[in-house]
Amino acid sequence: MTEVLNATTARPALANRNALGKVALVPTMGALHDGHLALIELAKRSADTVVVSIFVNPLQFGPDEDYERYPRPFDRDLALLEQAGVDYCLHPSVEEMYPNWPATTVIGAGEAGRILEGEFRPGHFDGVLTVVAKLFNIVRPDIAVFGEKDAQQLALIQRMVRELHFPLEILPHPIVREADGLARSSRNAYLEGDDRNQALALSRALRAAADAALDGVAASRTAAVNVYETAPLVTMDYLAFVDRATFLPVADDFRGDALALTAARVGSTRLIDNLAVTFA
Ligand code: PAJ
Repeated sequence: MTEVLNATTARPALANRNALGKVALVPTMGALHDGHLALIELAKRSADTVVVSIFVNPLQFGPDEDYERYPRPFDRDLALLEQAGVDYCLHPSVEEMYPNWPATTVIGAGEAGRILEGEFRPGHFDGVLTVVAKLFNIVRPDIAVFGEKDAQQLALIQRMVRELHFPLEILPHPIVREADGLARSSRNAYLEGDDRNQALALSRALRAAADAALDGVAASRTAAVNVYETAPLVTMDYLAFVDRATFLPVADDFRGDALALTAARVGSTRLIDNLAVTFA
């Protein structure tokens, strides 16, 4: 049985660490798909007790974003958690998490949170780091699992854990994709008709960038942008290469391991994806 907890009942339920053993937390916003389930499997392999949080965090959505329409199929999600053998589902209310609204962010993501996704979603990462820090304090996990799909989020959380000395280990999980390459996302549910097919532009652009990497950064960028030009329903927000070590954008003469990151809008749906690229 998966026991449902809120922010108040989580304290006593998760107090006896000797009985619970190693605790892993998998933070999510629900509308669970195979990507989330793969993170949960990794959590189960790595810990004795698994907590999955389901909370659509208003603090990380901009005023014109999809907070209201974000899917919330809680009963279905809970059934999936049961099936996956998850011990606890932390499902706090907005009132519990943010008793004073509009809430202030308690953690700022800084400059690294204002580039790439942060440029297009101002304040987004301050909202993500604030809620993740709160979830860490509620659950006090030994391990927390995050997906590489949200690569900038993962890098900022890893930095927060280091710099604020959170006593836990972050376990990353590779991106889980559909058979045709589209990265799994709760937002894929918004894609209908031609939008679903043209959404492949993101993963194909990244693949084209990786295939052109021998010719350098500029050629790689051109190859990716060319793919986008074949998809008229898709508007690219950015296509960037960051140094894997620093997460800072690379210069055109960069050599080494980079990450190609992209975001694009398909109709009113905003999607992101990324792929490792080596500039030899
Ligand atoms: P959400 O989008 O629900 O994602 C929850 C976790 O699942 C994140 O760590 C994300 O990177 C991972 N994930 C999503 N799709 C994935 C895929 N296709 N492959 C691998 N991992 C995938 O990310 C959030 O929620 C929120 O920002 C959150 C961290 C919960 C804070 O509110």
